[in-house]
Amino acid sequence: MADQAWWRSAAIYQVYLRSFADGNGDGVGDLAGLRSRLPYLAGLGIDAIWIVPWYPSPLADGGYDVADFRAIDPIFGTLAEAEKLIEEAHAAGIRVICDIVPNHCSDQHAWFQRALASAPGSPERDLFWFRKGRGAEGELPPTDLQSIFGGPAWTRVADGEWYLHLFASEQPDFNWDHPAVRDEFEDILRFWFDRGIDGIRIDSAAVLIKDPLVSDVYEDNEGIHEVYQAWRRIADTYTPPRALIGEVWLPDHEAFARYLRPDELHTAFNFAFLGAPWEAAELRKEIDMTIAVHAPVAAPATWVLSNHDVTREVTRFGREVTNFAFADKRRDVPSDLELGTRRARAAALLTMSLPGAYYLYQGEELGLEEVEDLDDALREDPMFHRSGGVNPGRDGCRVPLPWSGTSAPFGFSPSDATGDPWLPQPAHWSELSVAAQQGVPGSFLQLYCDALRLRRQEPSLGDGPMRWLDSESQVLAFARGDLANVTNLGTAPAALPAHREVLLSSVPLNEDGTLPADASVWLRLA
Ligand code: GLC
Repeated sequence: MADQAWWRSAAIYQVYLRSFADGNGDGVGDLAGLRSRLPYLAGLGIDAIWIVPWYPSPLADGGYDVADFRAIDPIFGTLAEAEKLIEEAHAAGIRVICDIVPNHCSDQHAWFQRALASAPGSPERDLFWFRKGRGAEGELPPTDLQSIFGGPAWTRVADGEWYLHLFASEQPDFNWDHPAVRDEFEDILRFWFDRGIDGIRIDSAAVLIKDPLVSDVYEDNEGIHEVYQAWRRIADTYTPPRALIGEVWLPDHEAFARYLRPDELHTAFNFAFLGAPWEAAELRKEIDMTIAVHAPVAAPATWVLSNHDVTREVTRFGREVTNFAFADKRRDVPSDLELGTRRARAAALLTMSLPGAYYLYQGEELGLEEVEDLDDALREDPMFHRSGGVNPGRDGCRVPLPWSGTSAPFGFSPSDATGDPWLPQPAHWSELSVAAQQGVPGSFLQLYCDALRLRRQEPSLGDGPMRWLDSESQVLAFARGDLANVTNLGTAPAALPAHREVLLSSVPLNEDGTLPADASVWLRLA
């Protein structure tokens, strides 16, 4: 735990708390479940966990609608348990990152409730974006701005005013021009840092500042950097300094890099890489771009294959079109899961050997697929509901993990559980459970364990330089010190560079020593 710049190389495991492990048997994951599985996470060889919002929430957006930023939802446990978790994780060598959601709160948050109870023009309303509507009676929203989840970004309240919500209507946007909002969040940061939290993941980090009456643009507006410079000053007052990790979805690479200047965020998620298709030229382009963009600000790159918002890669990579884009998400797109699994194994070795930090999403290490046949009545995601069901939403990547056993809940809940898992698990996940895969040569989980262990052991992996090696156009080959990663995205077998040792491969090599299609290998170079 001594390395203060741990975030530059870390492997960070994302815990979707509701679906990780259920300790009290109500069918919903919780802190007790997470604490009981810390040995599993330590054994996996990860450096930190990022826990998605654990705050009191009506769950209109899976907890990203926060009613109180300084407490734990009773469904997950108590603040005292969160403190214990932090302590136990630290004892196991795991750092803890929590999720801070500064753009909006829940419509049940005390500030918003007070704003609703106060008159138009009151100071209480000034903490949000309340405005009069257009039209003779103000019956039209103040602007035509659309919510990121679909439908209008304005909702009307009883007295006729409208409030802004970039996401669901249960998520009113804070007015970041108001000093009280800034003070409040700085205080929230200290609240969690004082409890030993090692870093924060900042939700929707680029959209805080806006003037929705003047412009439709809510991304990356003037003034956003001052917010994070102030947060950085706070993070730096702690020993060790706390890490700031931004969820920054910005297509403009230079704009993205500005968030990573030395006095701002430490790192940000690499969504360009996540969205890239399973194609050598495209991946190579994203890798080069990522490295070029980070170099001037001396920030480490991050590499991400999936998270709780996107289609699991086993499903994505088994489709004809293998990239990811929210706007293109549709139901019933066929996927060859066997092919997807093979590619996901290769993608893991590629991703884990790239320079910088690596984020994995729970269940990724088990090779879980997106659950696409959920009953509509069970789907909770506002992306599904607000699109009228055109977009399948994100529930399919949030299904509770299978831990053991031959039938649901596969050890997710204790045997005397009173509730079913909050989303049903596919029957064949018995074969993908932790118990079914642990220690089994060739299993998905074993590949992850081996790769994470090597990634830690080998000094040239993690942060540091990389150098492309000559290869066929359908092959990605690069060196990290005396190691190399070769990934074959073509259909023909690929020749490998001269090497002393094969450290790990996603599938066995061919008898003639070539690398099969849709496979990846780590080599020690000759
Ligand atoms: C982020 C979260 C997502 C959430 C949204 C609104 O993108 O990752 O799950 O719905 O912000 O808070």
